[in-house]
Amino acid sequence: MAEYGMIKVETRGKVGLVTLDRPAALNALCDQLMTELGQALKGFDADPAVGAIVLTGSEKAFAAGADIKEMKDRSFPAVHFEDFIGNKWETVLTIKKPVIAAVAGFALGGGCELAMMCDLIIAGENAKFGQPEIKLGIIPGAGGTQRLIRAVGKSKAMDLILTGRMMDAAEAERANLVTRVVPVESLLEEAVKMAGVMASYSLPSVAMAKEAVNAAYEMTLREGVRFERRLFHSLFATEDQKEGMSAFAEKRKPDFRNA
Ligand code: CAA
Repeated sequence: MAEYGMIKVETRGKVGLVTLDRPAALNALCDQLMTELGQALKGFDADPAVGAIVLTGSEKAFAAGADIKEMKDRSFPAVHFEDFIGNKWETVLTIKKPVIAAVAGFALGGGCELAMMCDLIIAGENAKFGQPEIKLGIIPGAGGTQRLIRAVGKSKAMDLILTGRMMDAAEAERANLVTRVVPVESLLEEAVKMAGVMASYSLPSVAMAKEAVNAAYEMTLREGVRFERRLFHSLFATEDQKEGMSAFAEKRKPDFRNA
């Protein structure tokens, strides 16, 4: 497995685990860290032994945002022409396997945005979410204004983005930003267990299910249903569909081959 400087990468069964590991800066998302994260995610996506991915940080911080010290002196032309926070940050959106964000501690600014780019978020009880960019004289730049409103609605998104306040795990669960809140000590275990369930199914169906759900963000209902129907039909071309349905009829466990 590749060696990295700012992340740790391991597998647990069929689950790929990426741990952000830049404790001195509360996992601030600098260029090197984001490059490494992109490489690790792509590596797991290409690895046939991995069926789902968990992205986590430390107990103190998932990530405290983009690296403020790294970007503070950058000019408008530099960030504009480089498309700063462009493709490199959005690698997670290109991953076909499910990516679960397991968030303990701070998920602020780009950290909250990175978590929202994942397919779902599980939070530890000490998690704190926020978009504090307004306090720095900027606004969210990795999709925060667009994804937060889709998760929590307009009033709470405006509240968080315009005040810069943090939202605790209980509020994040009430607001539907996270699927569930668990004790910090069991966060990773719960996330890996959930990812393991996803990894136990036929990968083509898992990948298409997540693609269809994510497409709902970008399509009208009519287009989305049509898109879902096409993916649904295409799964009848897989051996795993025959296997899954035969196993049900024969009252046995399916043996999915990702084919
Ligand atoms: N960038 C760079 N360094 C950061 C950082 C960040 N986003 N967040 C924390 N750090 C560093 C601190 O500078 C500090 O380093 P030193 O020890 O060298 O001084 C170290 O991490 C520990 O941080 P604190 O001493 O501040 O820890 P704390 O427990 O007192 O406070 C905190 C924690 C409330 C998260 C505070 O660190 C903080 O407010 N961080 C910044 C959060 C923020 O504004 N994030 C948004 C960034 S902009 C962005 O993300 C743009 C975008 O949309 C992509």
